[in-house]
Amino acid sequence: MTSSVEGQNLDSSLRENRVFAPSAEFAAKAHVKSLEEYEAMYRRSVEQPEEFWADAAGELEWFEKWTRVLELGEDGSGNGAKWFVGGKLNLSHNCVDRHALGARKDKVALLWEGEPGEVRRLTYGDLHEQVQRFANVLKGLGIKKGDRVAVYMGMCPELAIALLACARIGAVHSVIFGGFAAHAIVDRVNDSECVAVITQDSSYRRGTEIKLKAIVDEALEQCPTVKHVVVYRRSDTAVKMKEGRDIWWDEALLAAEHECAPEWMDAEDPLYLLYTSGTTGKPKGLVHTTGGYSVQTYLTSKYVFDLQEDDVYWCTADVGWVTGHSYVVYGPLQNGATVVMYEGAPNWPEFDRFWKIIDAHKVTVFYTAPTAIRAFTKWGAEWVRKHSLASLRLLGTVGEPINPESWMWFHREIGKERCPIVDTYWQTETGAIMIAPIPGAVATKPGSATRPFFGIVPEVVTKEGEPVPDGKGGLLVFRTAWPSMARTVYGNPERYEKAYWVEIPGSYFTGDGARRDADGYYWLMGRVDDVLNVSGHRLGTMEVESALVAHPKVAEAAVVGRPDDLKGQAICAFVTLEMGHTVSEELRQEIRQWVAKEIGALARPDDVRFTEALPKTRSGKIMRRLLRELATTGEVKGDTTTLEDFGVIAKLRGDEE
Ligand code: WTA
Repeated sequence: MTSSVEGQNLDSSLRENRVFAPSAEFAAKAHVKSLEEYEAMYRRSVEQPEEFWADAAGELEWFEKWTRVLELGEDGSGNGAKWFVGGKLNLSHNCVDRHALGARKDKVALLWEGEPGEVRRLTYGDLHEQVQRFANVLKGLGIKKGDRVAVYMGMCPELAIALLACARIGAVHSVIFGGFAAHAIVDRVNDSECVAVITQDSSYRRGTEIKLKAIVDEALEQCPTVKHVVVYRRSDTAVKMKEGRDIWWDEALLAAEHECAPEWMDAEDPLYLLYTSGTTGKPKGLVHTTGGYSVQTYLTSKYVFDLQEDDVYWCTADVGWVTGHSYVVYGPLQNGATVVMYEGAPNWPEFDRFWKIIDAHKVTVFYTAPTAIRAFTKWGAEWVRKHSLASLRLLGTVGEPINPESWMWFHREIGKERCPIVDTYWQTETGAIMIAPIPGAVATKPGSATRPFFGIVPEVVTKEGEPVPDGKGGLLVFRTAWPSMARTVYGNPERYEKAYWVEIPGSYFTGDGARRDADGYYWLMGRVDDVLNVSGHRLGTMEVESALVAHPKVAEAAVVGRPDDLKGQAICAFVTLEMGHTVSEELRQEIRQWVAKEIGALARPDDVRFTEALPKTRSGKIMRRLLRELATTGEVKGDTTTLEDFGVIAKLRGDEE
């Protein structure tokens, strides 16, 4: 861990003093109507957490009730905690059956728009049928409770159906973002020994076809555990089907039985794996379990998005990331909401696609990322102003700190100064929202995630774990256990402990810097470790470095982030070459492409800077602070192919880390 806090927005957020209270009209209809009500609920949630979470869990259906709400870990901390011990439930039952067999049978569950423009509506009744039939397809392939199933798809209803069908039979899904390259699939599939892959022929993005099945084929040459591939027919593009391994989704579904009773899952049975970047070269497969994850995604969706029966809810995240798991699929569906899903890019065919979708489907709640808002701002408000957006009543952001000016733009141009904005702070590891305003109750300040969700106890501490006074920056930790926390890293419990529980003993360490102001509002300041946040996507510097050194001409590499107006952070790679290779613009491009091919386009370095040697301390540690400084302030313009003479810089500064 380094001590520097890369708070790109720190300066402006420190000066921020605007406050926006919810309108009386919004508050009157909200689940939580006043600050007093929020504070009373919050107090109860932390003073009597078991009673609070038991009430929340009681709003869902359980096949068997739990015997204990919370069992802390051996050392009395959240490390090793279990929730709803002994309880039995099934998340697909709570997302689908509960509504389909009740009053919401004909209510639209998924409202999908393809990038080329098709629209499909699936009611809860439809979803009930499709999920059961697809669950039977999986069963027919011999997939059973506990088996890992990789999902590599674009945004379409079948992606949600695939997840729900896995959850129904107790198979553990592992979604791999459709923008990742074959290599990334190989690592993830092999790490958890997946027995099957669910994919589709292709998906549309920015007018072109992303040939997902072909990428799966390439990856599976190196994945011996995969016995089956199910291919959803999205575009009818030509694909190769491997005899004995690959089947078509539609054909299998036709032959499948209609009814499939949900598996009775133990509250602590794994629900899914999701790989995310950390501080080493290999992404880690975080394990989420069934009971606690269900309860907290349900409750946060209900209160933070203030979901009401007639809402049309749209979270623009891809299901390849945790936001899509918790807030496209599981959270809103448990609440019986109508969920919008869009397949493609926000600027296709023109820059106003999102605003067209909002007007066409009368979207009421719109949840997106700061990086998207920065792009909208750049494209210009005239694209927004062509549309009414009158249906919107609540906005949300997630994934990175939002700078106050982007917040104001969102508030003014999209929310028309009428819609509260919920800036939601959480992580893949936390499973669900941790810090965010309850919109009818808590006034917002641009750039602050505001106050903790019920049951959550954040604290800002020093490296030694001592509380930091309000107004000062420090490390963000969580003091108590919460239901949706990831339980472990798949196959590597030591890594889980080391990454989250060792740094600040007794607390969960987020890896983020933050400060709390005098009103108890939290201001996130960015990662304090070697994790980058590029366009809201998490990437480890080591992960990119591993890909770089895998290039035959690269000897050593060091990757740092530098602030970027659009992406939040841009990737800057310092590279030394193997003997006998010369620096050229061509090689620079080749190396950038190489990383895109190894990991995915999102990891393509923005800058590749060649150097004769990397600046290192006497003990051989790369001096990242120096590199970060250089990447941030140093001139990258001009001849980027020249060598940096770090030896000289280091000598001049006498700098050591
Ligand atoms: C960052 C995404 C500031 C943070 C749900 C965290 C945020 C990482 C916010 C997790 C926010 C997420 N304000 N920073 N509202 N939300 N982050 O695992 O650095 O993809 O640790 O989960 O994103 O990213 P992840």
